[in-house]
Amino acid sequence: MKRIVVLVSGEGSNLQALIDACQQGRINAKISAVFSNKAAAYGLERARLADIPAHALDVKAYEDRTAFDVALADAIETFQPDLVVLAGYMRILSAEFVQRFAGRMINIHPSLLPKYPGLHTHRQAIENQDAEHGTSVHFVTEQLDGGPVILQAKVPVFADDTEEDLVARVQTQEHNIYPLVVGWFADERLSLKNGQAILDNNPLSVQGYAED
Ligand code: GRF
Repeated sequence: MKRIVVLVSGEGSNLQALIDACQQGRINAKISAVFSNKAAAYGLERARLADIPAHALDVKAYEDRTAFDVALADAIETFQPDLVVLAGYMRILSAEFVQRFAGRMINIHPSLLPKYPGLHTHRQAIENQDAEHGTSVHFVTEQLDGGPVILQAKVPVFADDTEEDLVARVQTQEHNIYPLVVGWFADERLSLKNGQAILDNNPLSVQGYAED
């Protein structure tokens, strides 16, 4: 069975969706460990409640980003993961870290990439009066929120939406698409080859998988 390591910094609702999907057999893999850069992240508690080893590394204990990332990567590798899943991990990754897990690390970002990389995506969508917003699962490359997209989900933006309304609407979709994509990877249907996401031997478009 494939092994997954998940990184979180906060609430961990996407982690919970992955835990549930593993328990229900929708993902044919095991979450071997959860790591965080925040000891108080509720995601760590979710992991413990599911009997998954949960560890926090204290950023202040390391000299710089490179030293922290080397320690984190070494700790992750003790679990020999097939896939590293970023689920609300709010820390910029060093190039060395990204290279170490190239082709086996994915992220979920709350926008329809390439639109709105970075922070405050929901606020920007509302301020720009976008008709739709959404979320993207993508392979992680050195470019922040810039790796090949695997799958997106769209939601409408309504005129009276608050940022919280939109966050909640997007997250509902995240909890559907992230387990789906992790399941594809676990079933060896998904890979990254020559900088391109491949699903069932078909290169995916810039927007990722789209059903006919
Ligand atoms: C998600 O909305 C994800 O898109 C972003 O951070 C949020 C994490 O939420 N990267 P949670 O910690 O999984 O609840």
